[in-house]
Amino acid sequence: MADPSISHAGPRVVVVTGANRGLGLEVVRQCAADGDHVLLGSRDAAAGERAAVELAGGRPPRGRVVPIELDVTDADGLGRLAARLRDEFGQVDVLVNNAAVHYDTWQSSADPDLTVVREALETNVLGAWQATLALLPLLRRSAHPRVVMVSSEGGSLASMGGGIPAYHVSKAALNALTRTLAGDLRRDRILVNAVCPGWVATDMGGPGGRPVSEGAAGVVWAAELPDDGPTGGFFRDRRPIDW
Ligand SMILES: NC(=O)c1ccc[n+]([C@@H]2O[C@H](COP(=O)([O-])OP(=O)(O)OC[C@H]3O[C@@H](n4cnc5c(N)ncnc54)[C@H](OP(=O)(O)O)[C@@H]3O)[C@@H](O)[C@H]2O)c1
Repeated sequence: MADPSISHAGPRVVVVTGANRGLGLEVVRQCAADGDHVLLGSRDAAAGERAAVELAGGRPPRGRVVPIELDVTDADGLGRLAARLRDEFGQVDVLVNNAAVHYDTWQSSADPDLTVVREALETNVLGAWQATLALLPLLRRSAHPRVVMVSSEGGSLASMGGGIPAYHVSKAALNALTRTLAGDLRRDRILVNAVCPGWVATDMGGPGGRPVSEGAAGVVWAAELPDDGPTGGFFRDRRPIDW
């Protein structure tokens, strides 16, 4: 068990939410390939185990990728996870808030199912917020802490029109959270940025999007920023995009 009073100098400890499939799983793969120790978060523990086995080429997951049960809407579970990570690692270096729900192309803001809207806000905004709060004491123990909000240009007020209301409003709120957290955590040297992966061929994105590896690369870039890197920004493919 690590001594929590000592800032470790080994591989970075990276936590990725919603990592049992899609973009999150690819972020895990790329971070592990870069030498990080990656906690593959999944709200369904069995799905997380299966994903870790898949990454390990069918072998039992060992070493750098560890599946963990993580539901961003479960505050008690996040508290238990933080205690476990404190005991096992003493710190967290990177949190990637990737989990999201409800790309609601089927509805309009003039006639929405507000249950869907509430669920989107609960997971996409409050989930990312409370996951960050739960791990904040551990991020503060890191020498180079980073928080990445996996957002979407769909949350950009500059280009927003009608449609996809639950998703768009939740991602706009996530962008606002990025800015406020970046400001409030600046004195802790925690870099907080939002990243749009672009249209990516996942369950959420559907067919026709670009390869998941390309979308994930921009997320990993924000997770690996140097100490003099940006904070409070909104990026796609490493370049700033409009809020
Ligand atoms: N795909 C695109 O084109 C695109 C474009 C822009 C932005 N994004 C963003 O990229 C991120 C990943 O999207 P994706 O395309 O990979 O989506 P996806 O394939 O639908 O995967 C979403 C992931 O989030 C998880 N999740 C949902 N609710 C959760 C909760 N309460 N706690 C923990 N995990 C939860 C899902 O777990 P289950 O398997 O248990 O459901 C799944 O692992 C999202 O933030 C999305 O908004 C995607």
